[in-house]
Amino acid sequence: MTHASLGFRLVRPLLHSLDAETAHDLTIKLLKLMPPAAARPQMSHLAVSTLGLNFANPLGLAAGFDKNAEVPDAMLAQGFGFVEVGTVTPKPQSGNPRPRLFRLAEDRAVINRMGFNNDGHAAAHARLAARRGSGLVGVNLGANKDSTGRIADYVAGIEAFSEVADYLTVNISSPNTPGLRSLQSRAELQSLLARLNEARAQQTQRPPMLLKIAPDLRGDELEDIARCCGGGAVDGIIVSNTTIARPPLKSRHALEPGGLSGAPLFELSTRQLARLFLLTDGRIPLVGVGGIGDAETAWAKILAGATLLQLYSALIYRGPGLVAEILEGLSARLRHEGSNLESVRGREAQAVAHQGLSGT
Ligand code: FNR
Repeated sequence: MTHASLGFRLVRPLLHSLDAETAHDLTIKLLKLMPPAAARPQMSHLAVSTLGLNFANPLGLAAGFDKNAEVPDAMLAQGFGFVEVGTVTPKPQSGNPRPRLFRLAEDRAVINRMGFNNDGHAAAHARLAARRGSGLVGVNLGANKDSTGRIADYVAGIEAFSEVADYLTVNISSPNTPGLRSLQSRAELQSLLARLNEARAQQTQRPPMLLKIAPDLRGDELEDIARCCGGGAVDGIIVSNTTIARPPLKSRHALEPGGLSGAPLFELSTRQLARLFLLTDGRIPLVGVGGIGDAETAWAKILAGATLLQLYSALIYRGPGLVAEILEGLSARLRHEGSNLESVRGREAQAVAHQGLSGT
């Protein structure tokens, strides 16, 4: 058990007695105080080579936990195969008024309307440039709320982070920046990706570029995404961000505006993942995210077509011990089947895309 996972057991009652954002801020402070952890033992059969990178395992920390790149190495030390920091915007911004983060404990879910609160490019860049750790860190790029040229904000992100990021994520799917998600429409996405690829061509380092999409896209919109992203316009797609939909929920916070994540997002995001896997003929690496809370849900994402996985919300309820639990569970399934990640990927995409989920 790591310091952090033991620590989480001890401090969880305190954290959950606090307002959700205060608890998050305290968690980041505690992680910053932790001594650098020894590298965790690797399970070589869980290693994944994709996007031109070698991942020790397929499970990553999703964007939004470490918005300012303060604790990527502490989170890698929990066993994650990669960590995505951000969303970062060119200028610092304070985000929406508090409260803006809600735990829906009965639903194992979270609603947030943070609105890209972050310290800005320069601060995150300085922290990443000063890193001594070697694990894989992606940077999630966004646009300032008051930006007059959103595409220019993403270009600035490519220019600022290409030298310090192992990959870059173009996040056009947050529901908490008004108008942002319209960049997912075909015409806007085509010109955005064209501009970003021009900017990338001018960089000395060219880390892979991923696109992060919303789970709320209609079938025709998802087809447009698949078309725009084919032909090398992006290297991978992250499916998905939080949803503005509200499946039945028990918590009193159910109707708070914002993006819903955690267990109730699992079915929708996994179905979209399977659809996109089929639409792209499995040719573009997909990162499955949304409602992963145990080895079973992680396994289901791989069967639906995910090459890599990410999670965030379940950490709030289960703490960092969840990472090892999921990796051990995936490992046990592969041993039981006598197979490897590559050979099971997408095996159930047809069933999940068309009939809903099976085997979960
Ligand atoms: C997020 N998420 C997110 N995504 C992103 O691309 N940029 C961001 O800044 C944030 N911020 C953020 C804050 C909070 C509090 C949460 C809960 C989530 C979305 C996150 O990366 C992920 O896509 C979803 O949360 C779905 O995964 P989980 O949480 O169901 O595992």
